[in-house]
Amino acid sequence: MLPGGKAIWITGASSGIGRALALELAGGGGRVLLSARRAAELEAAAAACRGRGGEAEVLPFDLADLEGLAAAAAEAESRLGRIDMLVNAGGVGQRGTALATELPVARRIMDIDFWAAAELVRAVAPGMIRRGSGQLVVVTSVQGKFGMARRSAYAAAKHALHGWFDSLREELRGTGVEVTLLVPGWVRTDISRQALEADGSPHRAMDAGQLNGIDPGEFARRALPAIAKGSPERLIGGWECAGVYLNRLSPAWFRRMLRRREAGRR
Ligand SMILES: NC(=O)c1ccc[n+]([C@@H]2O[C@H](COP(=O)([O-])OP(=O)(O)OC[C@H]3O[C@@H](n4cnc5c(N)ncnc54)[C@H](OP(=O)(O)O)[C@@H]3O)[C@@H](O)[C@H]2O)c1
Repeated sequence: MLPGGKAIWITGASSGIGRALALELAGGGGRVLLSARRAAELEAAAAACRGRGGEAEVLPFDLADLEGLAAAAAEAESRLGRIDMLVNAGGVGQRGTALATELPVARRIMDIDFWAAAELVRAVAPGMIRRGSGQLVVVTSVQGKFGMARRSAYAAAKHALHGWFDSLREELRGTGVEVTLLVPGWVRTDISRQALEADGSPHRAMDAGQLNGIDPGEFARRALPAIAKGSPERLIGGWECAGVYLNRLSPAWFRRMLRRREAGRR
């Protein structure tokens, strides 16, 4: 589905990948509604989208408030008139071990990274089905393909997204509603700075993976053709994307390589 004239709701639009996707979609003529918690950053992103020639407004809310998501979706629908495309890009990272991470912190990661995306889809998909067209886009991760140390809840949430959205795609066959999973490798954003330590405090450091990752603008430019084609899934990043296939061919070798790279980064 090409963005021209489409009404597009994007979460995680205050920074990083979500913001870059918003700019590309607005540049392609989309009417975008930008969501995240930080209102000032959303307003700045909306101004940048208007600078690209698109229409843009903002709707701040907290993805962790699962009970409030249906109301947020109703507000988004009334602002846009209808929702042609939902882009779930909001998310939080993790930098605590599985054994040290307390349940409330692991739950918060699952809520924001998995349940919020699923609940927003449950709120907006019925309208798309009634109209016989729409697109549900979700930003997952290579961590939805393989786990890494200090990412247990994050990798669990991202694996859950793959299972949930793949199942959804089968259920929506013939309705005119497409499901697209964008699978980033490392992208140069604030994700590691905002990632939660075992006690729930922010990691605050820019990790080497993100520092050496691709630019979010490049990510968005490479994502747009996949969105336009309605591709089921698209891996976008550097060598770590090849890791998804290496992990299938030779998991032991891939693990050794991953450990060596992780050790080199500390
Ligand atoms: N960067 C990478 O290397 C990488 C790799 C794989 C996957 N990803 C995925 O890409 C997506 C975007 O992340 P990013 O890399 O662009 O990082 P980012 O710059 O930190 O963006 C995260 C976005 O999520 C929003 N967000 C976080 N918690 C929220 C909450 N409780 N309620 C509402 N919005 C919330 C943030 O906005 P506010 O703080 O304003 O709420 C921000 O807009 C995430 O799903 C992430 O898992 C990133």
